[in-house]
Amino acid sequence: MKKLTIGAMALAAALALTMSGCSARSDTSSTEAGAGFDADSSIGIALPDKTSENWVLAGELFTDGLTEAGFTPDVQYAPASNTVAEQQNQITSMITNGAKVIVIGAKDGAQLAAQVETARDAGITVIAYDRLILNTDAVDYYISFDPYAVGVLQGEALLEGLAATYPDKSTYNVELFSGSPDDNNSGVFFNGAMSVLQPKIDDGTLVVVSGETELAQTATQGWLAQNAQSRMDTLLAGYYQSTDLDGVLSPNDTLARAILESVRSAGKDLPILTGQDSEVESVKSIVAGEQYMTVYKDTRALVAAVIDMVSELQAGNEISEINDTETYDNGVKVVPSYLLAPVAVTKDNAAEVYAENPSLAPLTE
Ligand code: BGC
Repeated sequence: MKKLTIGAMALAAALALTMSGCSARSDTSSTEAGAGFDADSSIGIALPDKTSENWVLAGELFTDGLTEAGFTPDVQYAPASNTVAEQQNQITSMITNGAKVIVIGAKDGAQLAAQVETARDAGITVIAYDRLILNTDAVDYYISFDPYAVGVLQGEALLEGLAATYPDKSTYNVELFSGSPDDNNSGVFFNGAMSVLQPKIDDGTLVVVSGETELAQTATQGWLAQNAQSRMDTLLAGYYQSTDLDGVLSPNDTLARAILESVRSAGKDLPILTGQDSEVESVKSIVAGEQYMTVYKDTRALVAAVIDMVSELQAGNEISEINDTETYDNGVKVVPSYLLAPVAVTKDNAAEVYAENPSLAPLTE
């Protein structure tokens, strides 16, 4: 079982002690057929912010797709300031306004238990979208590109890029970045990447010159570009005045571009650099041979999966979208999940991977 959160680790340990021989708990009851609801019901979509293109696109796709399916979408973004409280308020008003399903891209996955429990008590189905909601049994489903797999792809690509670019080196100087501590995905991405990188740090192949290898040391508050850029500035000034920087683990594209900016300003050679999301500017940068890789998580597929689930709930059908009942433990239960597979993208396969995406394919020509 993958180690995903501290709660998950504790629960896994407890389960191992008390249920040795048993596999992880799964909540089968919530995949049973329900009573259904009116076909034009309100469906709440609570999204965190617009720090990445994927969230902007998701809002548009939910509005259009739910409307087309006959539902009444109520799409809200948490504003930049007072975000957690505002998202809590938005969810509460979705409940009051009679939503039948609430889909949540959590701003802070640890701060929504009270709201989703109120939703559950009102008979509303709660779907955690992209980011897991922690420490409550009131989350019915989790739909996401597998975030642990994202981290594994980033770690593998970093190693491959270093070996391919510096065939004469046997050790590489690298730095590690992670996302915002309030986003549960940040730790999951990082753990996935470290499952690949830690053995190479241990055997000396990778040298983290700053010594900053803990999640908290590598965090980027709010997923904000300026925070990653200023940490990179500090690392370069403190450790790389006369040392090469060969690679950087960046958890997403927005932060990767901020890191590139910092390296450029310092006049250093560009490192092998990872990312995630396939944002337009990063895809251009990959094609231009700057950013080394990104991860493709086709938001269209993720939103479509959620809308399919909403339609099944509406019809009172059994939910067919669950493909994992063992991995994503939120500290209270293993949340039945529908996990899509992320895809690693470098200059070599960009044209092929984006061939079916009209906004990205032209960038690879
Ligand atoms: C999402 C990423 C995104 C990041 C910042 C994460 O939870 O999974 O796709 O880059 O949030 O918005």
